[in-house]
Amino acid sequence: MIDNFDAIYDYCTTHSGGEDAVLARLNRETHAKVLYARMISGPVQGKLLQMLASLSGARRILEIGTFTGYSAICLARGMAQGGELHTIEKNPEIEDFAHRFFIEANLSDRIIQHIGDALEIIPSMTEKFDLIFIDADKEHYPEYLDLSLPLLNDGGLLIADNVLWDGKVLDPEKHRDKETQGIVQFNAKILKMNELERIFLPIRDGLLVCRKSIERFES
Ligand SMILES: C[S@@+](CC[C@H](N)C(=O)[O-])C[C@H]1O[C@@H](n2cnc3c(N)ncnc32)[C@H](O)[C@@H]1O
Repeated sequence: MIDNFDAIYDYCTTHSGGEDAVLARLNRETHAKVLYARMISGPVQGKLLQMLASLSGARRILEIGTFTGYSAICLARGMAQGGELHTIEKNPEIEDFAHRFFIEANLSDRIIQHIGDALEIIPSMTEKFDLIFIDADKEHYPEYLDLSLPLLNDGGLLIADNVLWDGKVLDPEKHRDKETQGIVQFNAKILKMNELERIFLPIRDGLLVCRKSIERFES
């Protein structure tokens, strides 16, 4: 039984290679200057996102929920050469903060920031993506799924963060707030989608990884 989760997480971080100087600074500054810093993906999930982008050969990535740019940098680092990542954030106050780190990471020409409500921006997008990462407000996860799935290429990856939502998904007594209801509905929708091969990973707050298949299969 693991009884010291923080120590285990630190061990995993170190043995995953840790953070480079840019991500370490971004992580530190986010915690020092930005509210709700715990929303940041962090080093282990960041490495996993980078690896998934790289293994899937993604050239075009859509991220819903930029925050201070940590996951955008990780995903963009894994993206195929010549690729581009579009990231949507509704809070204009953190646009410059994230942009500064995209420049420091030498990725500002490949990361396109969209400032506004993802529920309005996604329907205006026409080009398809190879990887979509859902990580904005939890209440609207079902809508993000409906809006973005048609934009995902066959064989592409759909990744969603916080699908365990602090374990609240397990307890119907805790399904009263809109955020938890959004996650529960999202997970129920995913369960019925035979066109999505998927795995729920119990890392951090739960990470769902799905692959959109051309052929339907039984789960
Ligand atoms: C969990 S944070 C994203 C964390 C980031 N992906 C990372 O790993 O560092 C969620 C972000 O989504 C943004 N957000 C919430 N609702 C949104 C919406 N409707 N459209 C766009 N962004 C939204 C929030 O302002 C917040 O910055």
